[in-house]
Amino acid sequence: MATPTTLTITRPDDWHLHLRDGAALAVVLPASARQFGRAVVMPNLRPPVTSTALALAYRERILAARPAGSDFEPLMTLYLTDNTPPDEIGRARAAGIQALKFYPAGATTNSDAGVTDLRKTYRTLEAMQREGLPLLVHGEVTDPAVDVFDREAVFIDRHLIPLRRDLPELKIVFEHVTTREGAAYVLGADGPIGATVTPQHLLYNRNAIFTGGLQPHFYCLPVLKAEAHRQALVAAATSGSPRFFLGTDSAPHAAHLKEHAGGHAGCYTALAALELYAEAFEAAGALDRLDAFAGRHGAAFYGLPVNAGTVTLVREAWTVPEALPFGAARLKPLRGGGTLTWRLKEG
Ligand code: NCD
Ligand code: ZN
Ligand code: ZN
Repeated sequence: MATPTTLTITRPDDWHLHLRDGAALAVVLPASARQFGRAVVMPNLRPPVTSTALALAYRERILAARPAGSDFEPLMTLYLTDNTPPDEIGRARAAGIQALKFYPAGATTNSDAGVTDLRKTYRTLEAMQREGLPLLVHGEVTDPAVDVFDREAVFIDRHLIPLRRDLPELKIVFEHVTTREGAAYVLGADGPIGATVTPQHLLYNRNAIFTGGLQPHFYCLPVLKAEAHRQALVAAATSGSPRFFLGTDSAPHAAHLKEHAGGHAGCYTALAALELYAEAFEAAGALDRLDAFAGRHGAAFYGLPVNAGTVTLVREAWTVPEALPFGAARLKPLRGGGTLTWRLKEG
């Protein structure tokens, strides 16, 4: 078969995105709006987006930051805490909020207000189950006795399986799945469950963090895993299973906050997200599966219509900018300074 030189797919969505706020929002929003029709916007601002009122106000700030003419649609989420009242769920549903995000307290960036014990949230989760509002899960235990690389697999046994036994109809998205165990669980489980997969976990294994000196721009959470896990994620994402869909987890941090001791976790991928996914799918011989992964499976899981229109990628080498201005700081995209083989066509 001849190597394709263009690839036209359904206008895709990003089902896991960090847009931040203020000056940072203004910098990162145009790239996502150019690539995607919609995005599920994570609520881990400081302070976190814990109520419908806060989410609607944040939505207005996002809409105001859109480039002229953009119809990009932010899909809003609430940050689940130990104290999210059950009656917030009806309000959220009525206001078009799409999901609640569960961060185990202390698991990742801005998760201090996260849940300390899932059982404290059960009345709220029951309301979500009734309303059909999905729970988006950062699936890692925070137990310091558990090895960092095992925290996702242990989370499944300690928290996810009991939760799904107690609330079998609750829709769950296993966000940024990173392991063989996570992919296998999502593929085989009964009931409503899906998973997002990031470009960095499809393209890189943990060697990337340690090759040529310590590489903070490859540090995200959950951390990159060993090669066998990367291969399992590629197999899952390219399997055609509707349970796996695109979620970049694009998570911008000022470069100086990543390039120091205690550096922040998160990879900024939104600038070239589709190009990175196309590279991963092509390497697996599965470019024909990108359309459904990027444009159809997530919408079906959330019960939303597929976007109208298409986007086109062309085979054209280009160099990702090394850094972008980010307020007074700089923002370094994943693969900055490197060459990509696919390029998203303008317009
Ligand atoms: C995310 C962030 O920076 O907000 N960081 C990350 O490494 N993925 C938080 C998250 O998604 O866990
Ligand atoms: Zn996370
Ligand atoms: Zn995230």
